[in-house]
Amino acid sequence: MSIRFRLLLSFTSVVVVSVILFVSAAYLLSVAVTGDFRSISSFYNIHYSLHPLSEEEENLFLDMKYLAKHDPKLLLDKERLEEYDLQLKMVQAQLAVRHNDAIIYSTPTLNSRELNQVLPDYEMGNYAIRSTLNSGNQFFSYAKFDFYFDEAKQDMGSIFVLRERSPFAEIVRTLLPILIIVFVCVLLLTGFLLYRYVTRKIIFPLDRLRQSAEQIKGGDLSQELSTNAGDEVGQLVMAFEDMRRKLHDSIQLQLHYEDNRKQLLSNISHDLRTPITTIKGYAEGIRDGVTNTPEKLERYVDAIHTRAADMEHLVDELLFYSKLDMNKEPFSFEQVDLNGCVRQVVNELTLEFDNHGVEIVWNNTLSEEQLYVLADREKLKRVLLNLFDNCLKYMVQSPKQITLRIDKQNEFAVVRISDNGPGIHPDSLPHIFERFYREEPSRSQAIRGSGLGLAIAKQIIEGHGGQIGADSEPGQGLALHFTLKLFEDRR
Ligand SMILES: Nc1ncnc2c1ncn2[C@@H]1O[C@H](COP(=O)(O)OP(=O)(O)OP(=O)(O)O)[C@@H](O)[C@H]1O
Ligand SMILES: [Mg+2]
Repeated sequence: MSIRFRLLLSFTSVVVVSVILFVSAAYLLSVAVTGDFRSISSFYNIHYSLHPLSEEEENLFLDMKYLAKHDPKLLLDKERLEEYDLQLKMVQAQLAVRHNDAIIYSTPTLNSRELNQVLPDYEMGNYAIRSTLNSGNQFFSYAKFDFYFDEAKQDMGSIFVLRERSPFAEIVRTLLPILIIVFVCVLLLTGFLLYRYVTRKIIFPLDRLRQSAEQIKGGDLSQELSTNAGDEVGQLVMAFEDMRRKLHDSIQLQLHYEDNRKQLLSNISHDLRTPITTIKGYAEGIRDGVTNTPEKLERYVDAIHTRAADMEHLVDELLFYSKLDMNKEPFSFEQVDLNGCVRQVVNELTLEFDNHGVEIVWNNTLSEEQLYVLADREKLKRVLLNLFDNCLKYMVQSPKQITLRIDKQNEFAVVRISDNGPGIHPDSLPHIFERFYREEPSRSQAIRGSGLGLAIAKQIIEGHGGQIGADSEPGQGLALHFTLKLFEDRR
């Protein structure tokens, strides 16, 4: 059985039980008040019918009834009637006497014409002598007695002792059926609104959860769930949404890894295939006796050696990169004098710079200061070597100049290495730190490289908790910069 159906059932039962209890209470009340278990059928009249008059009024009524039985002619005497009326007035009751179809006496405050129209018919057995009536906009309870002035002539008469009842009681009497209908309607409406409210707050979100779960089962993790509710159902929806997002992210990550793996495989195959083909070609040349002079043979062997060395370099770089990528390459951090370290690398490369006609320019005063960073010295050197190697490789036109600058920026040291080479096209700039990425001119100009140098530099700098970036204007050179956390002596 669905929750929605159960809710509908429970609200309907509440309404039905309430109505039954309400009707039973009304019935029991009427029985309790009237003492008659059939009283519900004449509920309106019975209370006043049983007790229409007070004790004094009742006594006066009995007096008149006695006269009516024994000497009815006396009831035609106006003075006597006025006397009775006066006594009744003192207890706030009123009198009316009927002779055949006409009212021969009525208390002056009564409207005798209206009253005559609503008085009950003669009923000489006097079985129902107490009841209520409406005259104009007044509501009365009364006691009456029907008698003969002269039985032989069928000359009939009635005495009425009337008492006006509260107008509010009359309003309630008139409106009671409507009020009961209104009560029942309010009850039904409340039940319905409650049902709608609970449905909206519980069933709809659960429905959306089910739909979302089905979509996830079908492999669609993109549909977002949202809720503003802070209740238990809202929390459930939020937890579900959290789960969906994490699942979505992890699947995306997996796809990304899978993509990476495929690309890596294709890059490695491609990068290994070129030197292997070359080596194979040279080896076949030697086998087929193409190298008929010792110089030619030496050239072929040299070429084979160079390609093999390239492959070795590529495999070494790849191994190193994948170790960094999988966090399997340990870092041994120590306090390193950054200026000293950069100077040392520059000195080691002096010969290379001279051979390529490259001038090194130091661009700031900090270059003299000792600036300590926490770094793995060997890996930091590798970063610098990779960056200088690129400058040497890609700067082709004189004058060749490399500018070095080391700054402090908050708790970081910033190293900036700029060259005045060809620079990089803005479209390629965001990709140069990706592994195997090589900009088109470097590929086509047969400048040797595997596209791993900057990817390795990035992994190393990020392993230090720093960041690496590049700025370039095509034709104006490339500026590479990285940050390293300054060493704080806490002793
Ligand atoms: N100083 C530079 N000037 C111009 N282009 C550069 C410079 N440094 C890097 N690049 C471009 O960025 C690409 C990626 O450089 P990276 O060092 O990662 O690879 P590589 O130099 O081609 O190969 P590897 O360093 O693995 O031998 C290069 O192929 C080149 O296109
Ligand atoms: Mg490089």
